[in-house]
Amino acid sequence: MLKKRTKSKRQVFRKRLIIAIDGPAGVGKSTVGQSVAKRLGYRFINTGEMFRALTWRALEEGLDLQDQKAVFHLARRLKWAFKPAADGVVLRTFVDGQAAGAHIRSERVSVSTSVVAANPGVRRLLCRLQRRLGRRGGIVMEGRDIATHVFPKADFKFYLDASAAERARRRHRQLKTLGLPADLRRIHAAIKARDLDNMRRKLNPLRQAQDSIVIDSTQLTMREVAQQMLRRIGFSL
Ligand code: DC
Repeated sequence: MLKKRTKSKRQVFRKRLIIAIDGPAGVGKSTVGQSVAKRLGYRFINTGEMFRALTWRALEEGLDLQDQKAVFHLARRLKWAFKPAADGVVLRTFVDGQAAGAHIRSERVSVSTSVVAANPGVRRLLCRLQRRLGRRGGIVMEGRDIATHVFPKADFKFYLDASAAERARRRHRQLKTLGLPADLRRIHAAIKARDLDNMRRKLNPLRQAQDSIVIDSTQLTMREVAQQMLRRIGFSL
């Protein structure tokens, strides 16, 4: 009996599936995506890192982010690389040899990234990189348009949602734990503004793919969300 279970688990996950996770900011896509990838023995990539790393470089170089040509040329000029972190699961973004670290998480970069993410040339280029990363499957990729645009034929498409108030509370808790200053009302307002930016963007806006599996995590722990996903994928826990 035990042998049979192990065998069926292997059969499914020898398949190199593509698993897409989309959803708004602060909903836990990365936490859940990493844990799902780890269980499946897959790689995980957070595509927001690519947009953030580019934005950081553009700011460093003093570019006007509204100048779409200049930002696109910068994106083309950079040397992009994606290397597994020490856990062997997470693929980290490197630009010109520099890892996308804590510097891409600042509020300044977060706000500015919405502008860069609306740049058509940049989206095309990053989409090409993302498709290349998923070419051989065995990957969990999270972002905003993975199921709708990057991999419309992904094997599993999840749309993770939670109320803006709950996402703000989670972010607030996270900052407090890190000993960083945090104002719940401001965080809530910023989350709502970013949602609108992402949903109203003309090109590849955040929306649910028709055939996405929607999971509302407002009342769930990240562990429960990951378990739901694994069950839908057919991975016996
Ligand atoms: O997931 P994140 O907050 O780190 O993403 C940073 C920004 O990049 C955010 O404004 C949404 C945007 N983004 C996007 O437009 N498309 C993706 N596939 C991933 C992120």
